[in-house]
Amino acid sequence: MSPTTLTLHPSYPIAPVDPRIFGGFLEHMGRAVYEGVYDPTSRHADDDGTRTDVLNALRRLDMTAMRYPGGNFASGYHWMDGIGPKNQRPTVRELAWQSLEPNQFGTDEYLALCRKMGWTPMLTVNLGTGTPEEARNWVEYCNCPPGTRYADLRAANGHPTPYAVPLWCLGNEMDGPWQLGHVPADQYAIRAQQAAKMMKDTDKSIELVACGSCGVGMSTYMDWDRQVLEYLGDYADYISLHRYVGNPHNDTADYLALTNAIDRQIEEMDAVCRFVQAKRRSKKRAYLCFDEWNVWYKNMQMDGEGKFAPHLIEEVYNLEDALVVAGFLNSFIRHADVVKIANIAQIVNIIAPLLTRGDDLLVQSIFYPFAMMSTRRTGTALRVAVDGPGYESATNGYVPYLDTSAILDPAGHRLHVFLTNRNLTDPAEVQITLAGHTFTTCESADLLTGPDAKAANTFETPNVIVPRPLDTVRVTPAQTTCTLPPLSFAALTLQIQ
Ligand code: AHR
Repeated sequence: MSPTTLTLHPSYPIAPVDPRIFGGFLEHMGRAVYEGVYDPTSRHADDDGTRTDVLNALRRLDMTAMRYPGGNFASGYHWMDGIGPKNQRPTVRELAWQSLEPNQFGTDEYLALCRKMGWTPMLTVNLGTGTPEEARNWVEYCNCPPGTRYADLRAANGHPTPYAVPLWCLGNEMDGPWQLGHVPADQYAIRAQQAAKMMKDTDKSIELVACGSCGVGMSTYMDWDRQVLEYLGDYADYISLHRYVGNPHNDTADYLALTNAIDRQIEEMDAVCRFVQAKRRSKKRAYLCFDEWNVWYKNMQMDGEGKFAPHLIEEVYNLEDALVVAGFLNSFIRHADVVKIANIAQIVNIIAPLLTRGDDLLVQSIFYPFAMMSTRRTGTALRVAVDGPGYESATNGYVPYLDTSAILDPAGHRLHVFLTNRNLTDPAEVQITLAGHTFTTCESADLLTGPDAKAANTFETPNVIVPRPLDTVRVTPAQTTCTLPPLSFAALTLQIQ
């Protein structure tokens, strides 16, 4: 197989990488909150009832924006059920997932967790069964100084200092007929505009995410987004997009070529943002908030059957899933000029990098590409000219075997390069050059691979898919080379002059 050359040039930047693309998502669904981040009965629980083993693992992902409380859950959630003395909070029948919600974890617990973890809070208001005014009241509860009703309530609950929640989502997947309170685009736009106005009137510093199309297969795809953006006008700082992918036909080559489809979805959503901006002759451009993304297709158990913390969509991830997760992140970096926020869905138990079983914790394969990239995220994304062999996939078109992205650190002393070898059988020889710079040394190089595409970590064998040092990196002043095994992902940090 001929080598693949990656040619980079610092004069061809895409944009600074927004750290918020390494965000997460915590929903009141299944065992994400209860038995996930929060479990006062666990031997790992701290004084707040949060699980230190889960949080310590999440720390390694260095996540940024943390979306909460849903998801579909948000469209039936009344935030006032989840504040105040815990023994006075109602247990409610939760309709999105047909579960029991005891409200023992709510706004103040979530914001304490964000503070503990260094996460940027990102709240989704209820525009399904809730009202625009209820959404506004939540902004007051979270962000306003004491002196008015809801801010005083927060102070009375022991939190006099405002939380300054900067990011608010105007509902969730409101284009989906499954959504509680789903309405057509024009009606959602009116609801969202009413909420947005009152929310920004309450705190003008907040940024708002309008609900965009939740999937490319929706019959209203693009029209929904156009209508919503046109009506919301300057109130929409971002528009959301979601994507869950899978390999139901067991075609690994096609699955790994999904990066084409992700690139395309981003470019289409950006096109509608630019269209509306141009049509409105506005200086304001909405950017993209990819606030749910992941692999999800194996476990579709979504009915909680009236139970508390039921086992829902606890997906088990393998090597090929981890490579697809790396593909999502590569795509976000390649589109750093338009994707400003992204949230992997989700963080624990629900389609997540972490699984709990009693007091045990399993780190799944998809944890690692996220960690390998998140810890190398600072800087400006560079265009990467890829010249090398590729293949025609069954449904996703032609792709080079190598999927890549690159980040130049702000001081220009380091180059981070991310490489996925999608070749199922052959290694990839890689040659990297950076115009105007010489390479001095390889600071770190991590490799994620495994015995086969379906290999996965289990509670019994937790170290099947874990990163190891990549020992094939050779650095000369003019170029860096390395060899990647088939079906692998590598993250390199190269020092440069
Ligand atoms: O992440 C699980 C669910 O998927 C979310 O609640 C919903 O927004 C999406 O359909």
